Amino acid sequence: MFFRNENILEKVSKGSETDKREFFKGTGYKSKRRGSFFTKWYNFYFSPIRFEKINFLEIGVGRGNSLFMWKKFFVNANIYGIEIDKTYLEYSKNKLENIEIFIGDQSNEKFLKKVCKKVEDGFDIIIDDGSHITGHQVITFEYLFKKLNPGGVYVIEDIHTSYLKGFKKGSCKNIINYLKNRVEDVNIRGKIRKYYNAYDILNQKKHKLSYYEKSIESIHFYPDICFIFKRGIENE
Ligand SMILES: C[S@@+](CC[C@H](N)C(=O)[O-])C[C@H]1O[C@@H](n2cnc3c(N)ncnc32)[C@H](O)[C@@H]1O
Repeated sequence: MFFRNENILEKVSKGSETDKREFFKGTGYKSKRRGSFFTKWYNFYFSPIRFEKINFLEIGVGRGNSLFMWKKFFVNANIYGIEIDKTYLEYSKNKLENIEIFIGDQSNEKFLKKVCKKVEDGFDIIIDDGSHITGHQVITFEYLFKKLNPGGVYVIEDIHTSYLKGFKKGSCKNIINYLKNRVEDVNIRGKIRKYYNAYDILNQKKHKLSYYEKSIESIHFYPDICFIFKRGIENE
């Protein structure tokens, strides 16, 4: 049944001490730390597409541990990263071979625009593991989800920061509430049922569908992480 399959990603990630693992080698006094267990959900979605030639982007590179894992997992992919602090990359030169890292701020649209220009055929998977500041999570999602290829997925990690004082900054103070509104967009037929006949709603000219109503296929929440899938073909 679901989520009982072998966690290949966890196996592949051995030696790349990302906190996406079940347990990872921490720095400092704790040598073995409990991770986020995100590999379990990533494995569920990504195993079937593991060998495809995709463009993969992760925001927040740190010491390169997760990109090293993704490179070993997605053997035919082009792997890209975004990182604000280039001093981190000193630690991970060997690991990051054949991976292109863009140095800049995920909350700066001009920078994001430049990144997208460089990767002409667009991204298939985008993971936000950057600042975890609620305002940044929204700016980055609103810019990059539009650039995601049809049928792609956008993942926001550590959405629990919406419950923590220090991360609630910027124009949006709660990414979970923001994403709940996107759930409303997925349920567009129900949402505007009060105005129109539910069954021919998508033929109704009166309601102009928003970008998200047209393009979000589904939203899946797990503890601390959210997967937003883009439609292969937009709603009309
Ligand atoms: C949680 S760490 C990434 C860990 C890495 N993905 C892993 O699993 O091994 C977050 C990273 O995001 C970077 N970061 C913080 N604010 C950022 C911003 N505004 N734009 C881009 N990167 C940012 C930090 O410098 C840090 O390296």
